[in-house]
This record gives sequence, C-alpha cells and structure tokens, in this order.
Amino acid sequence: MRLSIQKDTRTWKWLPFSSLFLQHTVSDTGRFVVLTSAKPSLTLNDLLSLGQHRVWKRMAVSWSGAKMGDQVLDLCCGSGDLSFLLSEKVGSNGKVTGLDFSQEQLSVASLRQNMSLKTCYKNIDWVEGDALDLPFPDGYFDAITMGYGLRNVVDKYRAMQEMFRVLKPGSRISVLDFNKSTQPFTASTQEWMIDNVVVPVATSYGLAKEYEYLKSSIREFLTGKELEKVALQVGFSSARHYEISGGIMGNLVAKR
Ligand SMILES: C[S@@+](CC[C@H](N)C(=O)[O-])C[C@H]1O[C@@H](n2cnc3c(N)ncnc32)[C@H](O)[C@@H]1O
Repeated sequence: MRLSIQKDTRTWKWLPFSSLFLQHTVSDTGRFVVLTSAKPSLTLNDLLSLGQHRVWKRMAVSWSGAKMGDQVLDLCCGSGDLSFLLSEKVGSNGKVTGLDFSQEQLSVASLRQNMSLKTCYKNIDWVEGDALDLPFPDGYFDAITMGYGLRNVVDKYRAMQEMFRVLKPGSRISVLDFNKSTQPFTASTQEWMIDNVVVPVATSYGLAKEYEYLKSSIREFLTGKELEKVALQVGFSSARHYEISGGIMGNLVAKR
C-alpha cells in the first residue's frame, strides 16, 4: 500500500471500525488526508476484542451463504469490514452493496476501497440509505449481512421485514451483534468487560460517547430466542441464533 502523506499534520484522530491503520487530518485547504502504513495494523476494535472481531465477522459472512457471482447486501456497513469480506466471497463477477445512513462512515469505506490493491473490491458500491426503508426491489439479493447494526436501529421488526423483502427466496440473512444473554454469569461478565475494558480504552482514544451506550443498548436488545421469533414472524421459513465466544456475541441466521 502506498503512503499518502500531507505535510500539515495538525489534528490526528484514530478512526474506529477500520481494518487498516488510518490517521486523518484536515489541512489548511480543508482537504481530508490520510496516512496509512503498508501493513494492516491494530485498530481500536482489535484492541477491544483482542482481534476476535475479525473472526466473528468472517463467521457472519460465511453463515450468509454468499458465493461466487452473487449479488449481496451489507446493511449498516459502517466503514465496510463485512462488505470487504463479502467482496472476496462473491468475486469480480459478483456485486456487493454496502448501505449505511452515515455519509462519514461511507467516506471511510470508500477511502479504504480506493486505497486497496485488491481488484475484486471494485465490485462494491456504497449506498447512503436507511435500513428501515431500503431502496431496492423485492427479492433482489442472494445474501444479506448486518454487523452490529440491528441493535442500533430504532425499529428492529421493520429492519427484519425489509431484509425479508429484498432477499431472494431460499437465501439467507446473517446478523452479527452482541448477544443479550439470558445466563446471569455471561451477562454480568459482558457488563464487567464493557465497564472495565471497553469504555476505559475507548475513553483513552477520545471515543467515550461512542461506547458508553453499549451496555444499555444490549440490555434493550432482543435475546437470541426473541430474534428467532421476530424473524419467523416477518416470514422467514427458518431462524437460528448462534452464541459465539461464550455467549458474548451472537449471530442470527434466517432463511427466506
Ligand atoms: C456499530 S456500526 C457497525 C459497522 C460495521 N457493520 C461493522 O461491523 O464494523 C453501526 C452502523 O449502523 C449504522 N446505522 C444505524 N442505524 C442505521 C439505519 N437505520 N440505516 C442505515 N445505517 C444505520 C450506523 O451509521 C453505523 O455505521
């Protein structure tokens, strides 16, 4: 990977959700510039998950059933971690759409795509849109992933209905997120880790606000059984929620 260096380096900030080590600054001309190293490096998510988020995301993509030549959708794509994994799965003859309502996140995703030498990444389109009102026709996609998005959308039932609508019959969705465990020990371990590891580390990176809501959002989230129930209610023919890493994370797989 080539270096892009700007002389003016006033404000450095670590960007979350990137698999590359990115730093950005705004120059006097207002230009957004990036410095990246040749090798993929540690990110905040790597630090917070001890690198496990990469494994969880690979599992989610694998559960989606995406294959060469497929047309697939990554909802709430953020800076594109799952979209890039999907891109490799579907290859140059396939197509990935990464959708998010944050223009800022999509800019980071697009920047990562442009900086990569992997030609298959050209098969990704970034779309600014709402997961609750998808700008796609019925039965359009061969697979859908959603990583750490469902917990954040205001209407989970509606998001699931939309995923069902735009998915082809016989295809799958794969929804990765924190697991709302029904086991008291797992739930309290998860909360302890958030209070004592995640929030302090994120705070030291100036990202306290982004992570403080985590505990309450998991408390307000659906359990694995409840997620399965909603998937069946919106019309999926089967739904199974898998607990990952001792029940700290979870992945819903549902088939249309
Ligand atoms: C925690 S990030 C996850 C990013 C990425 N999927 C990952 O796993 O690294 C959640 C993303 O969901 C997006 N989001 C939340 N609600 C949304 C909605 N209704 N429609 C589209 N994007 C949404 C946010 O902008 C944010 O980028």
